[in-house]
Amino acid sequence: MRVDQQDYQTIWHKEQGLVQVIDQRHLPFKFIIRDLTTHQDAYWAISEMVVRGAPLIGVTASFGIYLTLMEERQEEGWQHRLKESASHLRRARPTAVNLSFAIDQQLEALQGIGRLEEARRKALEVAQELKRREIENCRLIGEHGVSLIEELSRQKNGEPVNILTHCNAGWLATVDYGTATAPIYRAHDKGIPVHVWVDETRPRNQGARLTAWELEQHGVPHTIIADNTGGLLMQKGMVDMVLVGSDRTTITGDVANKIGTYLKALAAKDNRVPFYAALTLSTIDRNLSDGVRDIPIEQRHEREVKYMQGYANGHVQKVLITPDNSPVANYGFDVTPAGYVTALITEKGVCKPEKKAIDKLFES
Ligand code: MRU
Repeated sequence: MRVDQQDYQTIWHKEQGLVQVIDQRHLPFKFIIRDLTTHQDAYWAISEMVVRGAPLIGVTASFGIYLTLMEERQEEGWQHRLKESASHLRRARPTAVNLSFAIDQQLEALQGIGRLEEARRKALEVAQELKRREIENCRLIGEHGVSLIEELSRQKNGEPVNILTHCNAGWLATVDYGTATAPIYRAHDKGIPVHVWVDETRPRNQGARLTAWELEQHGVPHTIIADNTGGLLMQKGMVDMVLVGSDRTTITGDVANKIGTYLKALAAKDNRVPFYAALTLSTIDRNLSDGVRDIPIEQRHEREVKYMQGYANGHVQKVLITPDNSPVANYGFDVTPAGYVTALITEKGVCKPEKKAIDKLFES
């Protein structure tokens, strides 16, 4: 995607042993690129949310395995340290299943390789291939999802289609295109008038900071709303579809996504607004069938709720917005049961949130 007229992706291999990422903690105020040279750097980038969003977490972990091998200085014992690094990276964030998916894929590809140099080459190849595939998959989500927007546009006789989204499931959360944003960008590029309601997404404001910034860079009309506004807009007929991403979706179609998504789904159902989740197959956890019971929900530090980040006098600053001693609960995600999901938009097409239909996606 373009940033100030220059093409960017969220992560790239700069040179041997050096991976670079866009630091998302300071956007939209500052555009900073960070170097990752060790597996600790990759762990840090994921856990501190320098990078974030399910597909990008997976790709970063995959490069993290490559960096582990680049750090190795001895031909002996690297397999053992690789395993340690893999289980450490796995713990960086619990909800997005893309993390385990990417690490398992690396471990499988590296199995049986004896020489360190060969393992390094293979790990880089696997990480680059995952990155390439995630880009292509997001592009395909755009191709499949745009027909849903096109249909709404027809029904509205060309009036702008109002799409509500939550958090950031944009190109910043992936490598390029985004998941939820891919059909939006595609529609905009095809000349279909769209307008996006952007939930601010407390406490880290991924919507207000990141989605709004992305849409602005691409010239897509949008309006930021406080998190609790969606229900009112739906009652007033001002939302034509809800379109979100996912961090983990069960084989039965339960969708885990940023905290607050479930409330939007409830309001959507009550107001007969279609609710879509866009995701790559790497986000589907084929081992789980009850998302509410089984998807691990990340709990993060209380300071994310207690402090608000903003920009003043040329600096990114944090200010306390609660009584200093009040206890805080900071749940990062919630699960929207399949019954509230109209359809899933994937790289293999649009499908019902049902086991039979999801199983089929993996067959072709
Ligand atoms: O905590 P975050 O910012 O990593 O959460 C991101 C989301 O919830 C996204 O909606 C999800 O990862 C979809 S990514 C295309």
